[in-house]
Amino acid sequence: MNTHLLRKLVHWSLLGLAVVVVVSGLGITESRLVEAATFGLLHKANAFKLHLALWIPFVLLLIVHVVLTTWPRTRRTSNESANDRQV
Ligand code: HEM
Ligand code: HEM
Repeated sequence: MNTHLLRKLVHWSLLGLAVVVVVSGLGITESRLVEAATFGLLHKANAFKLHLALWIPFVLLLIVHVVLTTWPRTRRTSNESANDRQV
């Protein structure tokens, strides 16, 4: 797998995981709100299990993300940024 694809994969899984970690955290402290918003799927016990299970992969992925985006051999090349849309 090339580093570009790996970087993208890590970006988007990290973003997804971050959302789930935050939502499950709120599912513990604001359980009634989150339970209603998820149609009863994420009740307090589930939110607790999810939150405790996911913080480890979240932190690992965050470390991989930071390494892949900052380490000279795996971060974006000037070739890649040449394709960026002008803002
Ligand atoms: C929960 C924390 C984080 C999440 C969810 C996250 C998510 C993302 C996502 C989705 C992108 C891709 C944007 C795109 O492709 O257009 C990105 C890019 C980037 N992130 Fe993060 N990030 C987080 C934390 C960090 C931290 C702490 C650093 C500090 C070193 C960092 C450095 C970067 C850099 C340098 C890029 C641009 C790299 C590139 O375009 O290839 N990120 N991040
Ligand atoms: C990036 C976001 C977050 C990370 C990395 C994170 C990480 C953690 C970790 C490491 C623990 C301890 C697990 C253990 O005891 O083994 C924890 C517990 C907890 N977190 Fe989070 N958390 C995040 C966001 C949130 C949010 C947004 C909330 C709610 C507002 C929240 C509420 C809680 C609660 C209530 C506990 C359990 C405390 C207890 O043991 O009774 N977290 N979280």
